[in-house]
Amino acid sequence: MWMSGIQEAITSRRTIYRYSSEEVDSRILEMGFEAARNAPCHKNTHPWKFYVMGRDSRNTLIPEIKSLAVKKYAGEGDSGEMVTRAIDKILSPPVLICVTTALSPNDSFREEEDYAATVCATHNLILSLWGNGVGSQWSTGAITRSDLAYSTIGAMKDRERIIGFIKIGYPDEIPSKSKKGIGEIRTYLP
Ligand SMILES: Cc1cc2nc3c(=O)[nH]c(=O)nc-3n(C[C@H](O)[C@H](O)[C@H](O)COP(=O)(O)O)c2cc1C
Repeated sequence: MWMSGIQEAITSRRTIYRYSSEEVDSRILEMGFEAARNAPCHKNTHPWKFYVMGRDSRNTLIPEIKSLAVKKYAGEGDSGEMVTRAIDKILSPPVLICVTTALSPNDSFREEEDYAATVCATHNLILSLWGNGVGSQWSTGAITRSDLAYSTIGAMKDRERIIGFIKIGYPDEIPSKSKKGIGEIRTYLP
């Protein structure tokens, strides 16, 4: 019974793009971080870090969000509208988390394993939230590569890599997604 709860959480989770304005209780977030820190990692490196971004740190990103949006939508009709939308995507989610993974400049294998572990930790967080009715969207837009994002969270670019921003909140709507069938992804070998 308990195991089927996990299966249900995993298979029902969908990326959420629109959130209600309801706040997410910090106990639900902390439960998510508890799930995240229990993710597997090789050699006990615990390479993940989660920066929960408040209003001030999000506002710091706005000049960069603006200039990235202006570049991206140049020549596409009403770019002012697109810039407003891009800013709203950062300011409106009830919770915004920047996730980083540790870099190992002298050990590419370690770095790859650590990235894999950070992805596991991030998905643990996402699934824990989902189990509490809270949705999220992993986002890897150009802002994840900007110097301003690194300085805003206080991370050194040669020590940590931003792997995404996780937007979090109660779902306004849950989209459906088609997935590959089991037969397309699984092969039993003799
Ligand atoms: C590593 C990663 C990066 C993603 N980056 C973005 C993104 O930048 N923008 C976006 O709209 N969705 C992003 N997504 C969400 C995917 O588009 C989404 O997972 C996919 O459409 C499948 O839908 P599902 O999560 O509901 O199964 C990302 C997902 C992952 C795993």
